Parts: sequence; structure tokens; C-alpha cells
Amino acid sequence: MTKTTPDIPDIFANNRAWAEQMELQRPGFFTGLKAQQKPKYMWIGCSDSRVPANEIMGLAPGEVFVHRNVANVVVHSDLNALSTVQFAVDVIKVEHITVVGHYGCSGVAAALSGLRVGLADNWLRHIQDVRDRHRSLLETIAEPHRHDALVELNAIEQVVNVCQSTVMLDAWARGQKVVVHGWVYGIHDGLLQNLQISVGGVDELDTVYRAAVEKVSSAKRT
Ligand code: CO
Repeated sequence: MTKTTPDIPDIFANNRAWAEQMELQRPGFFTGLKAQQKPKYMWIGCSDSRVPANEIMGLAPGEVFVHRNVANVVVHSDLNALSTVQFAVDVIKVEHITVVGHYGCSGVAAALSGLRVGLADNWLRHIQDVRDRHRSLLETIAEPHRHDALVELNAIEQVVNVCQSTVMLDAWARGQKVVVHGWVYGIHDGLLQNLQISVGGVDELDTVYRAAVEKVSSAKRT
């Protein structure tokens, strides 16, 4: 990499140039956003600096509601994640929630190998639960590809956790249309892949989940 990291004054200069450019391209853009946010999408992804939600999806400010944490985990009792999902569903009324894992995830790698990184070990324990739940599946996959498979399984399991939250159960019970998806992103090629888990109601969860896990199991990996 030849690019040098900008200093803080550069960041403010970049920001002013960006805001000017946006206003030039789309006059009234910021004043329009001031009135309200009405994004159709919510993104739940990894905090990794290489996985920026808006840029990857080609979306402008106002078009995606974002929650990120280490290794895109949705824990049943995580008030932060649940509040974000609740606000997105009940107030903003997003139509799609995407849980996006990414290949080359250091959180998943640490969980897979049992590497100790500090306090975050306790957070990554949730991914070790995913690893242990799918131990027999992972054992059928050649060792160099196990990381990718666990990244995919983790995204799938977190989709399930979103779907089983009281927020989603209540939204679906009152007939609100929200679909929860599982995707994975390649930091090596910049591409999103669909993990073929899209859930529009709790009654379809089990069938869609099983099919998605089967696809991880039978994927050709080279
Ligand atoms: Co990551």
C-alpha cells in the first residue's frame, strides 16, 4: 500500500470537500436528510475497517441503518443490538435487515483457533458456540476452508438470533413486512455473496435455516 493515512486536519478537509461535492451533485441533499431518515435497509456487520456498509452497498447517507460489532454477533440479551433492531423495525420501519459476515474476519479466526485476545474472548465465545454446534459439519471441510465455513455459519446463526428476538416476533405477529437476510462479504474481492437465508416470518425460519446450513456443508471450496 502506497497510500499514507490522513492526519486529523486532513480528515476535516476531506469532509468539507465531500460535503461540497455532495451538495454540487445533489443540491439540497443535506437539508432533505435533516427532515427525516427513511432507510429501507438495516445492516448488521463486523466493526472491521475493511467492511464499510454504505460503500459496499453503494448507498448514500440516509439509505442504510447500521449496527456493527466485533464479528457481527447478535446476542439474545445484548441491549445495544436489540435496541438498534427495535428502533429500525418499530420506528424507522426498515424492510430488510441484513446480517453480513466477512471472510478474513479476525474475530472468527480467533474463535476458531481458540486464540486468546483479551476481554473480547468472552464476546467471541458466542462464535465458539456456533463452532461447537456445527463441529461435525466443520470437520468434513478441509482445514484451509474451515474459516470461511465458520464465517458463513456465524452469519446464518446470527440471522436466526435476529429472527428469534422479541422485536421480530412482535413485528411479524402484527403483520409487518420485514425480511432478515444473511450475506457474506469478501475483503479480498469486494464482493457480497448471498447465503440464501432470507426469512420473512418465524414459521419459515427452520426450513430456510436448514437449507442454508446444507449449502455451507455442500459448497465447493477451492
Ligand atoms: Co470481522
